Amino acid sequence: MSIVNVQNVSRIYRQDSIAVKALNDVSVAIEPGEFTTLVGPSGSGKTTLLNQIGALDEPDSGHIQVAGEEITGLSRKKRTILRLWKIGFVFQEYNLIGVLSAQENVEYVLMLRGVPFRERRAEAQRILAEVGLRGMEQRLPHELSGGQQQRVAVARAIVSKPAIVLADEPTANLDSTTGAALLDLMRGLNAEHGITFVFSTHDPMVMERARRVIHLRDGVIEREERRP
Ligand SMILES: Nc1ncnc2c1ncn2[C@@H]1O[C@H](COP(=O)(O)OP(=O)(O)OP(=O)(O)O)[C@@H](O)[C@H]1O
Ligand SMILES: [Mg+2]
Repeated sequence: MSIVNVQNVSRIYRQDSIAVKALNDVSVAIEPGEFTTLVGPSGSGKTTLLNQIGALDEPDSGHIQVAGEEITGLSRKKRTILRLWKIGFVFQEYNLIGVLSAQENVEYVLMLRGVPFRERRAEAQRILAEVGLRGMEQRLPHELSGGQQQRVAVARAIVSKPAIVLADEPTANLDSTTGAALLDLMRGLNAEHGITFVFSTHDPMVMERARRVIHLRDGVIEREERRP
């Protein structure tokens, strides 16, 4: 069974008298364990599609299932619960909580899930070591470089072993060496833990590492490539 199933989804943004079809009748299925990227020019609908899959936004028409659950038409509360238990997010701007340490940022989602203090502390430390941040657990986000902050964001997204991680331009603010290291890290987590990853990107280095590349243009899927 597909882990993500997007069926005939349209999303129209209306501003004044203008309507922009950010997604126009998009259908796509993503299988468990895939490492997929969404690519396309600025404004082609990548972020809009990720927001739909991540239950951060709702379509005007069509249906979406994630991890076996129909998410279209869910209440706000049920969507929050779905995100907490099924989905990890990595945003371009990291979205770390500035007043919390790296470790506390990573622990936070486990706390929301009710994981006991000792267990979540140990798990956050283990995952921070896995992303190469041993010794930096107590630093605040502003005491870390951009690449290190993005590693914390990745650690936070994967610490709860979600079914799927959605990453919107995760390497956009990183130099190519740091970006490549981060991608290899995510590839490793994909292979080891079987977590499904879906990225949006403009970065050729990210596309090279993806097994499946979905090309969007003007809110439609233009074509896709698959690699061994
Ligand atoms: N909140 C919004 N209100 C109005 N229009 C929006 C909104 N969000 C996106 N759009 C429009 O929807 C279209 C798709 O935007 P989207 O952000 O999905 O593109 P993108 O492929 O992620 O682009 P980029 O590569 O620049 O991040 C664009 O025309 C954009 O202007
Ligand atoms: Mg975008």
